[in-house]
Amino acid sequence: MRMYDLIEKKKRGEELAEPEIQFMVGGYVRDEIPDYQMAAMLMAICFQGMTPRETAWMTLAMEHSGEMVDLSPLAGCKVDKHSTGGVGDKTTLVVAPIAAACGAVVAKMSGRGLGHTGGTIDKLEAIPGFRTSLGREEFFQVVKETGLSIIGQTGNLVPADKKLYALRDVTATVDCVPLIASSIMSKKLAAGSDAILLDVKTGSGAFMKGTEEAAELARQMVDIGIAAGRKVAALITEMDVPLGHMVGNALEVQEAVAVLKGEGPDDLTDVCLSLAAEMLVLCGRAKREEARTLARQAVADGSALARLKAMVKAQGGEPEALERLGGLPQAACRREVPAPETGYITAMDAEQIGLASVLLGAGRSRKEDALDYGAGVELCRKTGEAVEKGEVLAVLYAGDPALFPEAEQKLLSAYSFGAQKPEMKKHVLARVDETGVTWL
Ligand code: URA
Repeated sequence: MRMYDLIEKKKRGEELAEPEIQFMVGGYVRDEIPDYQMAAMLMAICFQGMTPRETAWMTLAMEHSGEMVDLSPLAGCKVDKHSTGGVGDKTTLVVAPIAAACGAVVAKMSGRGLGHTGGTIDKLEAIPGFRTSLGREEFFQVVKETGLSIIGQTGNLVPADKKLYALRDVTATVDCVPLIASSIMSKKLAAGSDAILLDVKTGSGAFMKGTEEAAELARQMVDIGIAAGRKVAALITEMDVPLGHMVGNALEVQEAVAVLKGEGPDDLTDVCLSLAAEMLVLCGRAKREEARTLARQAVADGSALARLKAMVKAQGGEPEALERLGGLPQAACRREVPAPETGYITAMDAEQIGLASVLLGAGRSRKEDALDYGAGVELCRKTGEAVEKGEVLAVLYAGDPALFPEAEQKLLSAYSFGAQKPEMKKHVLARVDETGVTWL
């Protein structure tokens, strides 16, 4: 078999066979296929697409390219959750403890921030002492003790995705549905959970800007997961506006704790309860009609917050820091951003807000950048709200005031104002499962 012939075949729009995809993925991981040939193949895939079978074969070949986690020694249904990435998306910090409090088992690997989007591992590392790198034994022990553990991805999980993602990043081949679907699902399958809930974001702060495109991605990922023998569903959720009011690592931990105390913002609370309920349904802990009530109860009776604190303690962190004033890292400097005009906020570009928080030090511009855990943005007013000129629109947090001017400019460029109150979208737009897409 020759990679040249496979590129030619895909260029003509023909379907690759399973052994051909295995040859291509295996050869690339072993450095037998050079980047330039794989880059040509990726671009051909972007133009010609992949059939559902090809996407499934690609996912399986990637899943098997490295270590695969065996969670079977842990009793119960293990449920995972994955977000395609958004701004202010701290839902994992809320839904994993809720699911665990309701009897599900969450033994989860999460990622770091990517581009303008945040990552759960960066947020957890904002908690003083918290360790995101545990060996297998300790990981299992924490799950047994507390019902949940969240750690960073182990070194050799899906090496094919590490190489392919880096190549896609520099060859303009990231935004291709079958490539995204196989990238995400290979990692989720290798991480070993029985049930997987996907949170597919759509809107200005998401990788999938359009709703139809998000639905297609969700459908493909659900189909791949079900074909691989897992229980999989997806919710399509709105990401035109950042979730909640806080963007930045410690700020988001603080807001996640507020949701677990029943004091969080409505949009974030609504999305978290929907996701948690869906996780409970997937792993058979509740029927759909009662799942949301169960999730809400776990917040109301404090059991979900207790689970988060138990995990933090078991992973070396200070649970008291979650609620103590000043317990989490705080930025040295703060600047209020006044509204430039009077009117309704008619739209926010969530991606620009994510980028403003990166400029303040909450995310990385280069791989090796250190994070400032206290940095970020507090959004005091969001889409649909009325503001008076000069009123505080947002507060910026950073370690160095020299970072404020560029971030403020970027932040203000994200807002549109008008005289009419805009129509607000639902937070959860659709559910995707084995029956197809249900618009809510
Ligand atoms: N997240 C991933 O893990 N992979 C992609 O291709 C896009 C987003």
